[in-house]
Amino acid sequence: MRTNPLNVGIIGAGRIGKVHAEGLAFRLPEARILAIADVNREAAQAVATRCGIPTVAESSQQILANPEIEAVLICSSTDTHAGLIVQAARAGKHIFCEKPISHSLGEIHRALEAVERAGIKLQIGFNRRFDANFARVRQAVVSGEIGTPRLMHIISRDPAPPPLAYIRSSGGIFLDMTIHDFDMARFLIGDEVEEIYTSGGVMVDPEIGAAGDLDTALIVLRFKNGVIGTIDNSRQAAYGYDQRVEILGSRGSIGTQNCYPNQAVVSTATEVRRDLPLNFFMDRYTESFVSEVRAFVTAVREDGPTPVAGIDGLVAVVMAIAARQSYEQHRPVRLDEIAAPVR
Ligand SMILES: NC(=O)c1ccc[n+]([C@@H]2O[C@H](COP(=O)([O-])OP(=O)(O)OC[C@H]3O[C@@H](n4cnc5c(N)ncnc54)[C@H](O)[C@@H]3O)[C@@H](O)[C@H]2O)c1
Repeated sequence: MRTNPLNVGIIGAGRIGKVHAEGLAFRLPEARILAIADVNREAAQAVATRCGIPTVAESSQQILANPEIEAVLICSSTDTHAGLIVQAARAGKHIFCEKPISHSLGEIHRALEAVERAGIKLQIGFNRRFDANFARVRQAVVSGEIGTPRLMHIISRDPAPPPLAYIRSSGGIFLDMTIHDFDMARFLIGDEVEEIYTSGGVMVDPEIGAAGDLDTALIVLRFKNGVIGTIDNSRQAAYGYDQRVEILGSRGSIGTQNCYPNQAVVSTATEVRRDLPLNFFMDRYTESFVSEVRAFVTAVREDGPTPVAGIDGLVAVVMAIAARQSYEQHRPVRLDEIAAPVR
């Protein structure tokens, strides 16, 4: 078994690039970051200094040309992912890429073909699969603990909408936000969705509507195995980040609660209360970000399959496109109207 650490490079030193750099540098001795690159050199330098990364590369190309680097983490903006996957695959690097692969199905296919041709490993950053709560729900489905699943509910609400500039380039709520929930739905049930119906609206900020997006949505999923699911999304929940799931099966149900900064309950003569949930993804999903990268590093070092593959990145985008189409056309949309069926 391999004992030396995996040599990695990081492309993109923004919010999520910093999260992964910190995870690798401070929590994952089985990997070593050799270099980091960002078109904003100062951002790369700041992360390099904080995480003890020896080289700030001039460009992503310099990282890909470094023969010592075995794997790259693509953490740059979404519009760069597909192109960088193609280049990294050609350079023979294993790839961890943040979600989504691209907003374009054509670009995703080209990226996945390059991965296939190069025979390298690819993992997509659907970190929520590695969250302890959701992993436990999946386990209850796999083990049969709650019997055969019948209904699935995902509640996924942000504390507040992102800036409008972000909304405009995000690809819309389904490709940016719900994409995690689409992946979670497939992960929890372990089956493919065949039809999606979306009801949505602009209830948080009219400017989001003016930008062509929506901020509130209820999505009904019909799986091939008959399970019916809902995804409840809002760009704003007054009490903070709301991330829960529930599955009803033939022998019982399993559900998760939000995660809190502490477990304290204050009881007085007039009320019983507790503090608000962990406020956003950086705090709520901290452990899952480390766990997903650990799983990627293990897959590469031990030459096993990555737990979230390219096809998972593709299907979630197909679902997002179907959800948008359903909203626009006020009708259920089958996934095979958007792309060829999976499996
Ligand atoms: N898994 C999650 O929960 C999660 C959370 C946040 C972001 N993301 C994804 O991660 C990606 C980055 O998001 P972010 O919030 O960190 O954005 P960000 O804007 O904070 O950071 C992106 C960084 O990429 C850099 N960059 C852009 N083009 C580049 C290029 N060609 N080469 C090198 N660097 C380049 C930018 O200068 C910037 O520093 C997005 O695709 C986003 O969807 C995923």
